[in-house]
Amino acid sequence: MPMEKLVFYGFKHQQIPPSFIIPPEKRPQKLDLPVVYHNTPIIDLKGGAEGALDRSATIQQIFKAIEEFGFFQLVNDGIPEELMEEVMEVSKEFFEMPVEDRLSLYCEDPMQPVRVSSSIVYENEEVHYWRDKLRHLCHPVEEFKHLWPSKPTKYREVIATYSVKVRALALKLLDLICEGLGLQPDYFNGELSQMQSILINHYPPSPDPSLTLGLPKHIDPNVITILHQGDLYGFQVLKDGEWIDVKPLPNTHLVVLGHQLQIISNDKLKGVEHRVVSTNVPRTTIAMQIHPSMDCVVEPAKEVTDDVNPAKYRSFTYQEFVDSYLTSVIDTQKTTKPFKILA
Ligand code: OGA
Ligand code: NI
Repeated sequence: MPMEKLVFYGFKHQQIPPSFIIPPEKRPQKLDLPVVYHNTPIIDLKGGAEGALDRSATIQQIFKAIEEFGFFQLVNDGIPEELMEEVMEVSKEFFEMPVEDRLSLYCEDPMQPVRVSSSIVYENEEVHYWRDKLRHLCHPVEEFKHLWPSKPTKYREVIATYSVKVRALALKLLDLICEGLGLQPDYFNGELSQMQSILINHYPPSPDPSLTLGLPKHIDPNVITILHQGDLYGFQVLKDGEWIDVKPLPNTHLVVLGHQLQIISNDKLKGVEHRVVSTNVPRTTIAMQIHPSMDCVVEPAKEVTDDVNPAKYRSFTYQEFVDSYLTSVIDTQKTTKPFKILA
């Protein structure tokens, strides 16, 4: 096991190893505390009860939020508060266990269905980021559950319940988005949402948050991500050329659109550039990601393209996109370039 890959496991860092120091032009600029939060969009799903929701008003709110900010936070989304607390608890416990308990899941192959990794180095980048992660597939739950971590003891049960509930929530949001785009009602229901992964991010405290980053600027590769970020700050989005801090609200999920939704909507909807800054306290987040199946063919929906608005992207398989993403994630323009139809 290369030691530099295990740099966070069980260590308390007094100093930042040089390979983790972010080049000056990519360092977070303002780290003034207390953090100043912008007013960012909040969408109320009325407890998830179908009848209570005014669909067209909600669709309008979602589209406005995406247009202005590229993301939104959900309140009353029907995911029980106790479940969110339990999910956060088992996630934190996982990263508090002794290193040995995680080592058997350590793996550098991004295609493994269950894996622990650390301090990612994206290709073409020398820098390591101040983050450990556990990522695994979770749909259908029965197919993957036996591969998930067996410790903490409650992990499998809690994450299984959460995976099913968040999947239903994500599909409901996709339904609303589908309706807003004028696509056929089941557009996202098959292969386009077949794969689901959970990504548990653990950001250890940084000895100097001005020199490290939890995650660099990126757009998620998948369709849609539902993030449970607990109550600690660290998540930032790029808005009008400025990084803004997003206030962590208790019992909410944060929704970001990924590259696939942007492409399917032919750029009517945009994936949002975001990053994670380091802080001096440990922070754990849980990202549930809906992806197409690997061999699913993705392309701009026929309903959003015509002679006036021709398709801006060619068809490709999600596998092709992921392979390309892994080599270009650092540059959000480059990520979609191989799939663009040039005017
Ligand atoms: C991600 C991500 C944000 C966070 O996992 O893609 O952007 O706050 N996470 O952990
Ligand atoms: Ni992300």
